Amino acid sequence: TGLQAATTVIKAGYVLDVDSGKWQKNQLIFIEGERISNIQSAGTAIPDDATVIDLSKQYILPGFMDMHTHLMGYLDNNFYAGLFQSPHRAVIGGVVNAEKTLMAGFTAVRDVGSPDYMDVALRNSINAGEVPGPRIAASGPALGITGGHCDDNALNHSFKSKADGVADGPWAVREMVRKNVKYGVDLIKFCATGGVFSKGTKVGMRQYTLEEMQAIVDEAHTHGKIVAAHAHGTEGIKFAIQAGVDSIEHASFLDKETITLAKKMGTTFSMDIYNTEYTLSKGAENGVPEENINKERQVGTRQRESFTMAVKAGAKMVFGSDAAIYPHGDNGKQFSRMVKFGMTPIQAIQAATINAAQLLKWQDNIGSIEKGKYADMVAVSSDPLKDIAVLESVDFVMKGGVVYKQ
Ligand code: ARG
Repeated sequence: TGLQAATTVIKAGYVLDVDSGKWQKNQLIFIEGERISNIQSAGTAIPDDATVIDLSKQYILPGFMDMHTHLMGYLDNNFYAGLFQSPHRAVIGGVVNAEKTLMAGFTAVRDVGSPDYMDVALRNSINAGEVPGPRIAASGPALGITGGHCDDNALNHSFKSKADGVADGPWAVREMVRKNVKYGVDLIKFCATGGVFSKGTKVGMRQYTLEEMQAIVDEAHTHGKIVAAHAHGTEGIKFAIQAGVDSIEHASFLDKETITLAKKMGTTFSMDIYNTEYTLSKGAENGVPEENINKERQVGTRQRESFTMAVKAGAKMVFGSDAAIYPHGDNGKQFSRMVKFGMTPIQAIQAATINAAQLLKWQDNIGSIEKGKYADMVAVSSDPLKDIAVLESVDFVMKGGVVYKQ
């Protein structure tokens, strides 16, 4: 990060038009302050005092967006580390993880489920320019039923431990949404079913009732906040879609009928299909209990089949990886899996850019390289439409006109 000249000009070899999937060759991208002020073909006059960045051999894409991360917490190969970390310690881990995420080319993320409004604090610090990190859409504490996936179930009852977002019943969930809004969240996250990494929950089992989900969505939408529902099991996915959520996280046990319903309702799927590999190869050595590794085995294969079905059916999809289950900064590894399980490279890139921007309703500001949008861009040295895995290591990262990696 450094002082900004009046104008920055990127000499770009190839610029991706993310809607058409076409490369525009030899472009000049003009940046004034945080935003792209113009895009011209090479040869256009460059002001004398402009800072010129030479990426004339590079492929330039919009900054990537990961719609499912958990930035908080210091990962130390201890599955129960969270129990021994104060929120203060966890948010310092979040600062470190935010920088790793940005350096991997992810210039925007959603943080979906963060106790103590740690994600709101980190977002505000990044936006104030104090620490490097992606733009964050923060959910604050995830709502969940007592004893559900979004509660804390590890300790026995005498500890009286309860996660911040636990609320049961339509009025209690409305109150929780209002509280999250009061403390500055950008979206609402709730747990519609059990999950892999919680103690004692069943992945296939619905948790909130339809009535509670409808109350959450109505209250959130009334406040202008989008809603993300964690859901593995089919019934929970369906209820969440019927209730009107904006995105289904994980979406492991899909069937044709559910995909049709999602298309009808305009629901987006955010499917974390990379992390299974990490958990099944590294989980045991990282101390993940057998209960949870077993649940991963139940979910992984079906989730990837569901992903393929959803892609074939033309459902709306975004890139969401659940970073924290695997090390922060490895987010880009999911791209090649999205292609392996059915997307074309441009579909995988759209999922991580323009589709994600639309889900957040941030498409006027980010998601593509266009005049007027924020200058959030990454560059790689070969064509990702030919070999998507090149996106695992980007050479250049700019966010809001500031170069973070070159
Ligand atoms: N946070 C999710 C859960 O605990 C992660 C699921 C990871 N596994 C997967 N196959 N997507 O349920």
